[in-house]
Amino acid sequence: MADHIAAGHDTVLSLAERTGTDPDLLGRVLRFLACRGVFAEPRPGTYALTPLSLTLLEGHPSGLREWLDASGAGARMDAAVGDLLGALRSGEPSYPRLHGRPFYEDLALHSRGPAFDGLRHTHAESYVADLLAAYPWERVRRVVDVGGGTGVLVEALMRTHATLRTVLVDLPGAVATATARIAAAGFGNRYTPVTGSFFDPLPAGADVYTLVNVVHNWNDERASALLRRCADAGRRDSTFVIVERLADDADPRAITAMDLRMFLFLGGKERTAAQIREVASAAGMAHQSTIKTPSGLHLLVFRKKRFAARGHGRRMVT
Ligand SMILES: C[S@@+](CC[C@H](N)C(=O)[O-])C[C@H]1O[C@@H](n2cnc3c(N)ncnc32)[C@H](O)[C@@H]1O
Repeated sequence: MADHIAAGHDTVLSLAERTGTDPDLLGRVLRFLACRGVFAEPRPGTYALTPLSLTLLEGHPSGLREWLDASGAGARMDAAVGDLLGALRSGEPSYPRLHGRPFYEDLALHSRGPAFDGLRHTHAESYVADLLAAYPWERVRRVVDVGGGTGVLVEALMRTHATLRTVLVDLPGAVATATARIAAAGFGNRYTPVTGSFFDPLPAGADVYTLVNVVHNWNDERASALLRRCADAGRRDSTFVIVERLADDADPRAITAMDLRMFLFLGGKERTAAQIREVASAAGMAHQSTIKTPSGLHLLVFRKKRFAARGHGRRMVT
């Protein structure tokens, strides 16, 4: 509605026509929203934007257009949150139960691809500088970013380290977006896209395997299976860097909300540092160091158990 009003279609009748909705009921919904400051009603039946509805416009940096998308991904996630009682009673995540498909598969079908990718992209851009600063990337020649999303980290690594080569492993939509942008930026020759599941064997022999905001998507069994794929692909001296917010070192209001969303959407969870060390240990990894970044993300650095040695941490917190 906000985008239509911004384009000049500001009467109930023209809005109903453009959105395929019932004019009488739409008028009642818009009055309900106008009373609450979402829209203004300068003349009866005519609507205008307010500071609040400006944030709903396509392309606004808040991303609310996507998160609240009543006809797509936003509504499907909201439905899963609304099914908290179902999850509590069944012990199962709501999203796949309600929508009949695993979260990321369903999202690919119901999100407006580029817009949703843009949202994820903006989120990753908010912390990528911290990741660049936190780790001695200058010692690294080849990185595999496991579940690397739209490629923000691998692109930033290649931009800042002239000889570093990267591999991005993700599902088709994310890989396509990442690859197009990385090619356009001129880094195509140092970048290898891998489309597929990270629960299958991963590209072998990298110096570093990164998993940024990936492990919290999965329950302990799946998280260890994924990390086992990393350990199996790594060399004896490879390093594995898990980047997450920690349940024992984050704003409790934010991390407990994310914890429930991870469960309701995917069966995942937010973990303490000790819990991440446990799932990594089950995958044959030994903890080396933990680096805390200003944005609150932590880099937990692991090696294969049999070959573990101290090193790499710059700001040790555990
Ligand atoms: C929370 S996002 C994190 C993305 C990126 N690392 C970042 O920080 O922006 C999790 C990523 O895992 C990917 N993913 C989910 N299931 C996957 C699978 N089975 N195989 C490969 N990638 C998967 C998703 O497509 C998504 O890009």
